[in-house]
Amino acid sequence: MKIFLDTANIEQIKEFAFILDGVTTNPTLAAREGKTFKEVIPDICKIVDGPISAEVLSLDSKGMIKEAREMSKWHKNVVIKIPMTIEGIKAIKQLSKEGIRTNCTLVFSANQALLAAKAGATYVSPFVGRLDDIGQDGMQVVAEILDVFDNYEFDTQVIVASVRHPNHVKQAALLGADIATVPYEVLKKMFSHALTDKGIKAFLDDYKKVEK
Ligand code: E4P
Repeated sequence: MKIFLDTANIEQIKEFAFILDGVTTNPTLAAREGKTFKEVIPDICKIVDGPISAEVLSLDSKGMIKEAREMSKWHKNVVIKIPMTIEGIKAIKQLSKEGIRTNCTLVFSANQALLAAKAGATYVSPFVGRLDDIGQDGMQVVAEILDVFDNYEFDTQVIVASVRHPNHVKQAALLGADIATVPYEVLKKMFSHALTDKGIKAFLDDYKKVEK
């Protein structure tokens, strides 16, 4: 499974670049860094050689397509995030014809993912954490999307998004999701286990006894 970092923070991306397959951003994440997409995305592309998602702000398909064409010129790895709306699906269909890669975002059901895949989306991003937040089962939606894509052999890849904890990443991997896009704090937690720390300390303490 590929791991993307879900952030627009350059320092966080630099710290984990050695393990990253890509990066996702959104308007909230860019605003958190006080930067526009145009300011931050080219810098991210210099650090990680993989798909880097930047999101359109228009709500109509014409505006989305215009923004997407412009953003896709920034770097060959830029992927255009398009929200899951009727206008968004129209835009994805057109951009797919033009060979511009898209990430259909704010996906909360298998039907939405089906429509995005039919339009030619490169990626769909089901938001598992936000579904869990309203008492639904986010990972169940991911499982359904994977089944649907498998049934019809869609090439569209599933990015498990709105990840809140390492267990979401493990569940995504167990289901066979293509990608999980993970916040910085969650990625850090994935590396650690109390028994690993305890084991390292014990090994080093023991070895001190024989070191000359
Ligand atoms: C994914 O592409 C989104 O940027 C992100 O995962 C949303 O996560 P949130 O629900 O924590 O805002």
